[in-house]
Amino acid sequence: MKTRASYLLALGLSLAACGTDNAATTTSAAGSGTSGAAGAGGSGAGGGGTGGAGGGQAGGRPSGLPATETSADIGAFLKAGGYKMSPWVSDVAAPRPMTAGSQHGDNVRVWLNQTLVDAIKAGHDGQNTNPPPDQWSMAVKEFYDAMNMIEGYAVALKTASGTGGASWTYFCYGPGSRCLASATGTEAMPIYGKGNASATSACGICHGYSIFTKPPM
Ligand code: HEC
Repeated sequence: MKTRASYLLALGLSLAACGTDNAATTTSAAGSGTSGAAGAGGSGAGGGGTGGAGGGQAGGRPSGLPATETSADIGAFLKAGGYKMSPWVSDVAAPRPMTAGSQHGDNVRVWLNQTLVDAIKAGHDGQNTNPPPDQWSMAVKEFYDAMNMIEGYAVALKTASGTGGASWTYFCYGPGSRCLASATGTEAMPIYGKGNASATSACGICHGYSIFTKPPM
């Protein structure tokens, strides 16, 4: 287990890398330079960002997201605890049982970014005939084990506007069938891809290309 200090250090690295804003490179082929082991701070080498945790970014991409949408950068963001930094919020204070129909089992907690909270509050929840969550909405679900230690994560990131699979990027790892009945991701090799890719289409189909969890009141 990492110490808190090393989480913070890794977080600093990933924030510093936030200037690498070429969000268009969301192909699953890891062509954008941050491939390799999803080790702590592994994506920090980009550098050159304007930094500053509060600052938004050019092109409408809000701060407080992984540096890019690659699997490596999502993994580094999780490891750094970036999803626990305000204004992200969690649905519950402590891990809870699952809700009906979940793939992901008991002992879960879900974090939502500001874009997603705002979208759901505006009725953009993708339920029924409502519009889908807005681009750059992101949810991180923590999977806890029986000892209350994190053993995996599921991530849904709305990387484009509109409905349908291609607008979502999914990422997941955890033991057994916590991600999918058909596949087990690991930290080194997570289940990753867009909602219209074969590895991750089951995520999007079950989710209806939307988000189930509601933000706290
Ligand atoms: C069998 C249907 C099903 C499949 C397959 C599935 N999920 Fe889920 N997922 C759910 C349900 C239902 C919830 C809410 C359950 C809860 O909160 O206890 C959920 C919750 C989540 C959340 C928290 C946000 C939200 O929508 O509530 C994320 C993120 C997530 N899943 C990602 C994934 C990813 C990534 C995959 C594919 C690797 C996946 N899911 C596969 C049903 C599914």
